[in-house]
Amino acid sequence: MAGCAARRAAPPDPLFLPMPRKLFVTTALPYANGKFHIGHIMEYIQADIWVRTQRMLGNEVNFVGADDTHGAPIMIAAEKAGLTPQQFVAGIAAGRKQYLDGFHIAFDNWHSTDAPENHQLAQDIYRDLKANGLIETRTIDQFFDPEKSMFLPDRYIKGECPRCHAKDQYGDNCEVCGSVYAPTDLIEPYSTLSGAKPVLKSSEHFFFKLSDPRCVAFLEDWTQDGRLQPEVANKVREWFSVRTNPDGTTSEGLGDWDISRDAPYFGIEIPDAPGKYFYVWLDAPIGYLASLKNLLTQRGQDYEAYMADPQLEQVHFIGKDIVTFHTLFWPATLKFSGRKVPDNVFVHGFLTVNNGEKMSKSRGTGLDPLKYLELGMNPEWLRYYLAAKLSARNEDIDFNATDFMARVNSDLVGKYINIASRAAGFLAKRFGGQLAEVSADGDALLEHMKDVAPGIIELLAEREYGKALRETMLLADRVNAYVDQNKPWELAKQEGMDARLQDVCSTCIEAFRLLTIVMKPVLPALAAQVEAFLKVAPFSFASAQQRLGAGHVIGTYQHLMQRVDAKQLDALFEAPAQAEQAPAATETAAPGGEELVPTITIDDFAKIDLRIARIVQCEAVEGSTKLLRLTLDVGEGRTRNVFSGIAASYQPADLVDKLTVVVANLAPRKMKFGVSEGMVLAASAADEKATPGVYVLNPWPGAVPGMRVR
Ligand code: MSP
Ligand code: ZN
Repeated sequence: MAGCAARRAAPPDPLFLPMPRKLFVTTALPYANGKFHIGHIMEYIQADIWVRTQRMLGNEVNFVGADDTHGAPIMIAAEKAGLTPQQFVAGIAAGRKQYLDGFHIAFDNWHSTDAPENHQLAQDIYRDLKANGLIETRTIDQFFDPEKSMFLPDRYIKGECPRCHAKDQYGDNCEVCGSVYAPTDLIEPYSTLSGAKPVLKSSEHFFFKLSDPRCVAFLEDWTQDGRLQPEVANKVREWFSVRTNPDGTTSEGLGDWDISRDAPYFGIEIPDAPGKYFYVWLDAPIGYLASLKNLLTQRGQDYEAYMADPQLEQVHFIGKDIVTFHTLFWPATLKFSGRKVPDNVFVHGFLTVNNGEKMSKSRGTGLDPLKYLELGMNPEWLRYYLAAKLSARNEDIDFNATDFMARVNSDLVGKYINIASRAAGFLAKRFGGQLAEVSADGDALLEHMKDVAPGIIELLAEREYGKALRETMLLADRVNAYVDQNKPWELAKQEGMDARLQDVCSTCIEAFRLLTIVMKPVLPALAAQVEAFLKVAPFSFASAQQRLGAGHVIGTYQHLMQRVDAKQLDALFEAPAQAEQAPAATETAAPGGEELVPTITIDDFAKIDLRIARIVQCEAVEGSTKLLRLTLDVGEGRTRNVFSGIAASYQPADLVDKLTVVVANLAPRKMKFGVSEGMVLAASAADEKATPGVYVLNPWPGAVPGMRVR
């Protein structure tokens, strides 16, 4: 054992260990209340590339996922759908495979947190924590919906904000003034499930004593010993110290963690506590173990023995929003139930689409991964593009359609695929596919590539995929320069240059093989096609240290990868309603009963200067039934006079002190009642007689007079 531990602490060669590493790898378990969105797929691609890298290094990996099935939101969603929670999550689970297969994400197992293994493991872990003195019960007061007969999570309680009196604010914070409070502070609270007025009811809850000095000491060490990414470790450190909350109160460092919920709840029952269930975040990460256990059992392997191996490394890929759970609660849960703690947690940032907002958890905005596949877009374009943007750091990345097309077409296809397509034809036609001995210049190129390859592989193993692909493309540039110098298409026309042509093309094919090897974790399906084309065994990284010898006969080249077509991207980002209609897209309904006006460019739009304005004064206009006279503050240090045809819809007093949007650079217009210096924006139906009503635009809180609307 001592020998093994020493070997692990100081590996002689980070790439080719004499003893393969044993890895247990997971991605976060997605909530089973919706389909995968592109953020999930990004996480899986990141992890999948790492797993494939490890396997190509000769390491032994078990890579598992599962659906996170428990909790109140899923229970409520199931009820709304008229299904049991079990039926509901089974429906979601059935939809997973097409995405995972579609993007070549090679989980060894996909399981469920509602599976028997998880019930058993969660209860065992809880019993061990309890025996270790880390579980405590306390009675707390909580809102209870008397109609639904259930305790209400904060997000299902709304009411009036105790600070600013805005209506319909959530139970934990006000979206208008930003204050943070307890649901019991809300004025006139109501249940969003039934509308009933919630009543306070006390109930016994179970707490995991994270504040126990043993926990604090362990976590301070585990989170700060250098295993975590530095930016993650720094963030986590803040949670250990006394801090000031947004509402002015102070928190005492690590607080105890409420791990129980009352029935009705879709979850796992707490042993010896009738009507009590584990809070979903207690059993969710245990689902990692349950999925692994299920996999090993299927293979006839012993789970306990596997976990007891001191060589085993356990790593979790997660997004930045769930760091607390994975760096505090989860390691502590494992440690103090006497189990193996994670070796690492790799945190990634969020993916946005076309500079869009962070995608909401349930609503996949932007890029629908299934639609991507259904449009026949190549999954490896996406793998390549995301890999090119990913680093080992916890930072957000953006999917940009233009950039996507450029990188795939110019780098992946233009620089890499083209090497093979330029060389393979000549070899097949002129030399029966046979490779020749390469001469000195080609040999120097190939030796250089062979020398650079280990560095690229190391970058992949460090999750620096962007850097790895940049290095790879630099190699591709060198190969293309070699092709341009030697011009095989000209050699082919020259008398007596056959040997040189075969030599140059053989060099290209070997170079292409090396590029394929280092990109195989990113492009696994393409690499398999290349293996078939070259008639070689599946590549490992060790293959990069060998050569395809002279005399080897390759197969016939078939086109390996298309370019991205701009039309595909247009279709991908087309609004779903339109996409579902017949391709005769000219027949779209006129929105609001009015045809859209012809398209303008962004430059046309930029000519219109829209500004936030405060309506300082508002009065009726004598002699007009239509107009109101508005005095506007547009943040210019003076006020403007604007007439607006909204008298039928608003009482002047209703508008005073409200914010709106004004066209601030509209040429002043002399009217019967005075000069109008701008125009207030308002919505109305195409046929105002049939559908009367004018609606003045009102910005969200936070906008101030003078801000530009763009
Ligand atoms: N169910 C919990 C995780 C439990 S793990 C024991 C959960 N589920 S989730 O479906 O909301 O998120 C699953 C993973 O997707 C998380 O790692 C999350 O960070 C990640 N992402 C969600 N949106 C994302 C992006 N827009 N971009 C990248 N990853 C994102 O949290
Ligand atoms: Zn408020």
